[in-house]
Amino acid sequence: MTPAEIRLIQTSFAKVFPLKAKFGMMFYTRLFEMDPVIKGMFSTSIARQSEMLMQALALIVRGLRTDGALPPKALEMAARHGRYGVTEQHYQKMGEALIWSLSETLGDAFDASTEAAWRNAYDRLSTTMINAAAGASPGVELTT
Ligand code: HEM
Repeated sequence: MTPAEIRLIQTSFAKVFPLKAKFGMMFYTRLFEMDPVIKGMFSTSIARQSEMLMQALALIVRGLRTDGALPPKALEMAARHGRYGVTEQHYQKMGEALIWSLSETLGDAFDASTEAAWRNAYDRLSTTMINAAAGASPGVELTT
């Protein structure tokens, strides 16, 4: 990722984070509409899950690096997701729900370059999380 992409993500996330309760509710509602089976994977309330998701995203967004490496806490979280039964298809759906929620929340501020930066970051994040869950060397192939 380029420094410019990282800046776009951090600046746009700073606008979304204060609205985290509303944003999280919107995001999970969209995700469960896209795939109702996913809803049954959660035992935690959506309000609490939203808070955990937004705190995890905050940690990841704050720690974004040009070499794509993730903070150790995020890698541990990724490994747990393997145990929750989360697959590549789930990550794809989550990515679409995330981009949709960002677009709804940010409106015109979610311009083409901001969207491209988020898509790039999410692709890298989900690939790293999938690899970490599979026990591969996370992040190693993501150093470009
Ligand atoms: C950017 C990607 C993601 C982030 C940052 C994230 C964040 C989190 C966090 C912070 C937790 C709390 C528990 C823990 O830390 O282990 C969690 C739990 C969970 N996540 Fe994710 N998650 C992501 C992707 C996904 C995807 C794609 C799915 C499936 C559609 C998913 C399903 C779950 C489930 C089933 C739990 C356990 C909930 C429960 O026990 O009630 N996550 N996630």
